[in-house]
Amino acid sequence: MEFDEASRLVTTIKHWHHRFEIHPGVITPGSYDPGFLLDMLSLPSDLSGQRVLDIGPSDGFFSLAARRLGAHVVAVDYRSKDAHGFGVMERISGEPFDYHCSNLYDLSAKTLGTFDHVIFLGVLYHLPDMVKALAIVRSLCHGTMYLESHAANDIEQNVALARYYRHDALAGDITNFWSPNAACIRDMAQDCAFDLVSDTTWGDRYLGRYTVNEDPARKRKLQLGYGLLR
Ligand SMILES: C[S@@+](CC[C@H](N)C(=O)[O-])C[C@H]1O[C@@H](n2cnc3c(N)ncnc32)[C@H](O)[C@@H]1O
Repeated sequence: MEFDEASRLVTTIKHWHHRFEIHPGVITPGSYDPGFLLDMLSLPSDLSGQRVLDIGPSDGFFSLAARRLGAHVVAVDYRSKDAHGFGVMERISGEPFDYHCSNLYDLSAKTLGTFDHVIFLGVLYHLPDMVKALAIVRSLCHGTMYLESHAANDIEQNVALARYYRHDALAGDITNFWSPNAACIRDMAQDCAFDLVSDTTWGDRYLGRYTVNEDPARKRKLQLGYGLLR
């Protein structure tokens, strides 16, 4: 695609979340540059033959990055791909993505299969039931989960706690529900049969890398609670 056409397509999107070079010399006017987070993920340099699930991709910066590393990427967002920049990113990239307009709570391994890597960034705190969401993510993952979230790093850290935000109290956005602390995220992930590999916090954010644990005993609590894990 020509530079002018890529530039024109970028202007058709009212609000870009991701600021990135979508085409040589064309930068999206996003409110946030996700490049530093991509570096922090330390994805394998070669994802050929691997399945990557990007949950809540927004404008698709991470979906595009995973595909550039060779992965087959499935992206799921409850907004249509033209309600944000994903559709434009896809057109400029020149190759369609496997995009599902769906709520995370409606996902199942029966329809999507399972994934080597699940990219679950900036979504957890948007979800009213974080444990159920993590149980669903676990049911879709047979490898590694990268979990980034808003986090309550300013409260007690030795007890698993989450702060609830009524209406739009967090950032004036009614899609925000929770801000868990790191201990809370770790404990929820643990109960959803994930093992922590490493994590870190900065500002009001959290990033953790987890791998799946296949011990059936680790699935018992959630099986009782939701009947989701097999
Ligand atoms: C803050 S953006 C994060 C974008 C990107 N993952 C990142 O970290 O830069 C949250 C994304 O999750 C999507 N989302 C929020 N709740 C969802 C849900 N229940 N099911 C599917 N997508 C959801 C939103 O539409 C949005 O694209």
